Amino acid sequence: MSSNSEIVPGLEGIPIAESSISLVEGEIGKLSYQGYSIEDLTENCSFEEIVALLYDGELPNQSRLDEIIIKMQSGRHLSDEHIELARIAGTQSHPMFALQAAVASIGRMKNDFESDLDNVIDRGIALIAKTGHLVGVIAQAVDGREYHGPSDADSHAAMILKMITGPDCPDSHIAVMNELLILQADHSAGNASTFTSRVVTSTRSEAEAVASAAIGALSGPAHGGANERAIRLFQDIGSVDNADEYLVKMFDAKERIPGFGHRVYHAKDPRSSVIQRIARDILVEGTDSHQLYSIALKVEEIATEKLSARGLWPNVDLFSGTVFHGINVPIDFYTPLFAASRMLGWMVHMKEQWDSGNRLFRPRQIYIGNKNKQFRDIHNR
Ligand SMILES: CC(C)(COP(=O)(O)OP(=O)(O)OC[C@H]1O[C@@H](n2cnc3c(N)ncnc32)[C@H](O)[C@@H]1OP(=O)(O)O)[C@@H](O)C(=O)NCCC(=O)NCCS
Repeated sequence: MSSNSEIVPGLEGIPIAESSISLVEGEIGKLSYQGYSIEDLTENCSFEEIVALLYDGELPNQSRLDEIIIKMQSGRHLSDEHIELARIAGTQSHPMFALQAAVASIGRMKNDFESDLDNVIDRGIALIAKTGHLVGVIAQAVDGREYHGPSDADSHAAMILKMITGPDCPDSHIAVMNELLILQADHSAGNASTFTSRVVTSTRSEAEAVASAAIGALSGPAHGGANERAIRLFQDIGSVDNADEYLVKMFDAKERIPGFGHRVYHAKDPRSSVIQRIARDILVEGTDSHQLYSIALKVEEIATEKLSARGLWPNVDLFSGTVFHGINVPIDFYTPLFAASRMLGWMVHMKEQWDSGNRLFRPRQIYIGNKNKQFRDIHNR
């Protein structure tokens, strides 16, 4: 515990909230949502069921699930103007920044979230639904395609994947999309983007301001951006036979292996094991995706040998890109898709933060600069 004048870099180990949404057990490599293991949930649930679980604290019965599905389907509507704005943003910047701008742009004309707190769940659900829709809008714009929106009956996963990869994507790919959405939906209050969402919530901001700030936090390579870096690394390595030499150079240059290491896990990240199960199911030998997965496995082997003694193990980002690759998602969209799933966590944490009093986050600094300097006008400096 810190004394009054001691800085804890990165706030490591400092509790910032009480939460009942998800539990990360770093020492044994376990993740659960509201008490249910991530392995059970990914294999058996729809993303919509997880929306209900995280908001309600329990898995839904059929009528509650139907209600959530309707809220998601109606909530995802975007105006023509917002679609156009997102499309323009998509052609001007990385899809992650385009998504951040697009999510901010769907904020209300008024800035008074507190007066609308009775609707905090419905607004959160609508924003989750709209974010998935916006990822699809941006993907179509980047690809130079006309806007083609979701069908009424599409699940959240189906909407997103069909908009990104085309309406004929197989059900097996939609099932993978669903599992990935669930797998990355929450990871406790302390990760950088969720902490960001709580800090912005504490200023009593609108939901879209909370969400767009969190997207910015997720974009960095130390957080969600690592999935993109990992797949580009495997592409650069090119073949399993090159991996040893390539990684030795990285170790010598003290470069970080994307997809390795975690502040909380000191065992293999359980999400990476789930993704490996999906990879074994979906990736077909002889394809580029399978080749990238084989390289990822080799990287895991070499890096584990070198780094595990220091507590560095594979995290979710080591293998997630290989599966996104296998369902034909363009690389620039791996992190936006992470954002689309984590939007659920951010919105539920926003609600929990309000429910627990929503005290403004206001830590302090230790000032180390000068004091009492004599002012001199510009001619005498
Ligand atoms: C996730 C991450 C930011 C956590 O970092 P952290 O808890 O702050 O740990 P630190 O940055 O203090 O690193 C501790 C040591 O491990 C090393 N290290 C951490 N991650 C490493 C990696 N992926 N590859 C090689 N070395 C790594 C650091 O260089 C540092 O070494 P040093 O003590 O000799 O300086 C870090 O592991 C990382 O950058 N990983 C790669 C990016 C990634 O996969 N991010 C997704 C996270 S889900």
